[in-house]
Amino acid sequence: MSPTLTAAGLYPKVAHVVPAIEWATMSDDVDAILRLKQERNAVILGHNYMSPEIFHGVSDIVGDSLALAREATEVDADVIVLAGVHFMAETAKLLNPAKTVLIPDLRSGCSLAESITPEDVRALRRLHPGVPVVTYVNTSAAVKAESDICCTSGNAVQVIESLGVPRVIMIPDQYLAGNVARLTGVEVITHPGACEVHERFTPTDIRQVRVDYPGVTVLAHPECPSDVVDEADFSGSTAQMQEFVESRRPARVALITECSMSDNLAAANPDLEFVRACNLCPHMKRNTLGAIRRALETMTHEVTIEAAVAERARLAVDRMLQVGRPGR
Ligand code: 13P
Ligand code: SF4
Repeated sequence: MSPTLTAAGLYPKVAHVVPAIEWATMSDDVDAILRLKQERNAVILGHNYMSPEIFHGVSDIVGDSLALAREATEVDADVIVLAGVHFMAETAKLLNPAKTVLIPDLRSGCSLAESITPEDVRALRRLHPGVPVVTYVNTSAAVKAESDICCTSGNAVQVIESLGVPRVIMIPDQYLAGNVARLTGVEVITHPGACEVHERFTPTDIRQVRVDYPGVTVLAHPECPSDVVDEADFSGSTAQMQEFVESRRPARVALITECSMSDNLAAANPDLEFVRACNLCPHMKRNTLGAIRRALETMTHEVTIEAAVAERARLAVDRMLQVGRPGR
């Protein structure tokens, strides 16, 4: 991000979704964060679910979980602030063991990450010997350490297909696993985890959106139950939703996912109408400008991972990052 940026200069990027009077209350924090990033030689990685003042205002690199993991391997700053949830900060730390990785609020968890323990994974392996374990990145480093390979919602199909086996253990999201099983034809053994944000959507919600907003194009995240995905026109990760919207430019669109996704796309695409049929993720929303400013002022909360766990977890993430690379 350029050193000359200021809150006032950034306002046009969010003007479509943040009223000027609200931006005025944020400017002090935005300017302080821009200054602190330079002083600390820090970059902010912001997930697509960050609210617009964070996503468009102070983040240096934005994207879905896969893009943030890939970009984390390229960072040359001393400090990474992960504006997202804890598992994302752990992934950034796994890929940057020598850098300081900060998370603005330690309470930024994830219902999927909390649904499964390393012992659960070992138990699944005992039950299904020889079946590879594919672990969604929305898990702790300790769970990744028990896994053969990771995946995100953006590459789950490619990761499963890369294994060339008829059966996999895919944890911990039962809905993502079910959606991927249908797309790949691979038999999937899963775990009863769910995203508390996406499991709340129902097929009736989508049918109602179509009645209320005629002509709407509906995009659903693959963490939604399969009957919700079936009602949508397209299903994909947050980056794949963005790609769909920006290439196809549907005049009216509903993103069946976390609410900030629509806000951020609406800010950049003011000519499109976004129907806010969305839910908030309480963990993502722990990230505020104030929390990010404090993180950089006090250099907290630093993410650490025990060396033995990190070494094994990194293997699973690295294997994922190799999928789709030339030669694979
Ligand atoms: P994406 O990888 O699609 O960004 O999803 C991350 C997430 O937490 C969805 O709930
Ligand atoms: Fe976890 Fe769901 Fe929040 Fe994503 S939206 S961080 S999967 S609880």
